[in-house]
Amino acid sequence: MSSALVGISPTPVEVPPVVHDLAGRLRPVATVVPVWRNEYGGFTARLEDCAQLEDRRNTPGRTTSRAAGRSSYLKWVPRGSACPSPLAEADRLVWAGSFAPLPRVLDAGRDRHGSWLLTEAVERGGAIATSAIEPRWRSQAKRSAIAIGLGLRRLHDLLPVDTCSFVRTAELRVAALTRSAAVTLRGTPWGDPPPVDRLVVCHGDATVPNTLLDRAGRFVAHVDVGDLGVADRWSDIAVTTRSVTRRYGPGLEPLVLAAYGVAPDPVRTSYYRALWDAEEAVRVRRVARRPDRRGYLRRAS
Ligand SMILES: Nc1ncnc2c1ncn2[C@@H]1O[C@H](COP(=O)(O)OP(=O)(O)OP(=O)(O)O)[C@@H](O)[C@H]1O
Ligand SMILES: [Mg+2]
Repeated sequence: MSSALVGISPTPVEVPPVVHDLAGRLRPVATVVPVWRNEYGGFTARLEDCAQLEDRRNTPGRTTSRAAGRSSYLKWVPRGSACPSPLAEADRLVWAGSFAPLPRVLDAGRDRHGSWLLTEAVERGGAIATSAIEPRWRSQAKRSAIAIGLGLRRLHDLLPVDTCSFVRTAELRVAALTRSAAVTLRGTPWGDPPPVDRLVVCHGDATVPNTLLDRAGRFVAHVDVGDLGVADRWSDIAVTTRSVTRRYGPGLEPLVLAAYGVAPDPVRTSYYRALWDAEEAVRVRRVARRPDRRGYLRRAS
């Protein structure tokens, strides 16, 4: 199973019962719309406020009012999942949200099934901002690639390193990898990080799906900041450029780099991609060892 935008899937995707129940507790009158399923059993749904829908029907063209309620996004992650904790993400959103465009936290918590994060839908001009992975942005790949590069630069420029308590340097990541892989990585391609180019507060998962665009295809905000922390800016740039070429097609990397405002750096780029891949391999092994973590999806179908 790979991460997928299930909200536009040709075959309808059911919201897992555990997510449905949770949504009912958090937003009793909302309609639950499936949006995204990640590789580690996590599921995101949009909770559309019925009062808001009613309000839009009664007053065509009216933009969402806070009194009428605003849609929200519920991310649920099963207990023991290999993806970042929604609670850790909530902490990061609360800190970083006062500096950069990120969703507002409405609720976060955990129970015996898993943990969750509820955020306010990011809106621009009365419409919910959409993920850059949506097909309409893929069909305007060059513009979208530029918007993604500009958005990443904006995030790095806005978040202050000196007051950030979240750290995600290459050294810390290699140490974590060494612990989970139970081997020493010294002397491997990941063991010796290249010297830092510029320390910034990195997104941590700055990919195409985690970038939101407005109706005109301009950058609006990032989501999914559970791994946000201080690191060399290339740990984000390397991942963003690869995500753009994987999701939209080859040849777009120079556009992302130019929009960000940096010259190519092949050494740091390949180092941070290799580190990412090594972490991903550990996560995939964890999921393979615990197939029960996917059980809730089977029960739902
Ligand atoms: N507050 C929000 N406003 C608008 N869209 C949102 C919001 N929160 C989440 N989304 C949408 O839901 C999708 C899934 O959310 P998120 O990226 O947090 O989940 P994830 O499972 O951690 O993703 P990944 O597979 O990248 O790890 C996002 O790509 C985005 O399209
Ligand atoms: Mg995501």
